Amino acid sequence: MRNTPNGRRMTAALRATPVPVTAGSLAEAGRLIRAGGLVAFPTETVYGLGANAREGRAVARIYEAKGRPRFNPLIAHLASVDDARKLGIFSAEAEALAGAFWPGPLTLVVRRREDAALSDLLTAGLPTVALRVPAHDIALALIREAGVPIAAPSANISGRVSATRAGHVAADFGAAVDMILDGGPSMAGVESSIVALAGDGPVLLRAGAVAAEDIECVLGRSLRRAGSGAGIQAPGMLQSHYAPCALLRLDADAPRPGEAFLAFGPASAAPVGTLNLSPSADLREAAANLFAHLRALDNSGASAIAVMPVPETGLGEAINDRLRRAAAPR
Ligand code: TXA
Ligand code: MG
Repeated sequence: MRNTPNGRRMTAALRATPVPVTAGSLAEAGRLIRAGGLVAFPTETVYGLGANAREGRAVARIYEAKGRPRFNPLIAHLASVDDARKLGIFSAEAEALAGAFWPGPLTLVVRRREDAALSDLLTAGLPTVALRVPAHDIALALIREAGVPIAAPSANISGRVSATRAGHVAADFGAAVDMILDGGPSMAGVESSIVALAGDGPVLLRAGAVAAEDIECVLGRSLRRAGSGAGIQAPGMLQSHYAPCALLRLDADAPRPGEAFLAFGPASAAPVGTLNLSPSADLREAAANLFAHLRALDNSGASAIAVMPVPETGLGEAINDRLRRAAAPR
């Protein structure tokens, strides 16, 4: 963009301008979240790009705005430990860490409760869920206003540095977010530490704003580091992502005998047992349905799932990435 007065005005017009935090703007932000919108908000670590964690289409908008080529699971932000316990199963160690560090820059990955009303896209189909109670008055007030858990990755375009000021968010997302709450600079500037307590022994999935030593001190034992252990490569790669038992056959026009069918778009002759990611070919809807549909077809007992092609544009890239990895030989 040329640095002319005219050019500057045009850029500004495309940006969602950060708004000061008032009772009114918080109420509006909460309403936007409930209605499926995207609201960027400050936390003590970095700014988050928030959406209703219960609604798949709202969570899909996060991936779309960030340009994430993959559905990495996201953190659900809660206003209290009690609310977190409604979504995840807390072991004694999880309780100890929540008691010591919440509200604060620690994220706990625990087993997801069966009855947790959360979008499958938030957890990328995993049986675990990442939970955090941020230590930031504005973040907590927003979560309470919204009345739902808020899914929020760092508010930066995928691959760029995290945003620690409202202006960074505006520069990255322009009009792609519905509102940016301006809470001044984030204090920590680095993301939360992530500890998984969902399997055998605590694992540090991401080093972050809480020192590993301090976590180990509370646990009374050492953390396994992701990357040093068996098969764990990076945060979000733990336990691999949900992998169906059934084989996937991609780019299919129709199912063969014995195959379940995952359609996309207006499928003319849909056999019984077909699930459609989005009859209207809406990629947000398809993303929201992806994990639930895969799981349902997998549970139907079919040995293979034929999948119709999904366009490679926008969220289609992340959908296809997931489908290709699910189809890869195991
Ligand atoms: O400080 C923070 O944590 C910020 C603020 C906004 O809260 N959020 C943040 O979110 O950094 P994000 O999406 O950039 O990073 C979340 C990380 C990802 O690496 C993801 O793979 C991991 O958490 N994660 C989420 N759920 C998981 C799960 N069930 N199992 C393993 N890793 C998980
Ligand atoms: Mg990030």
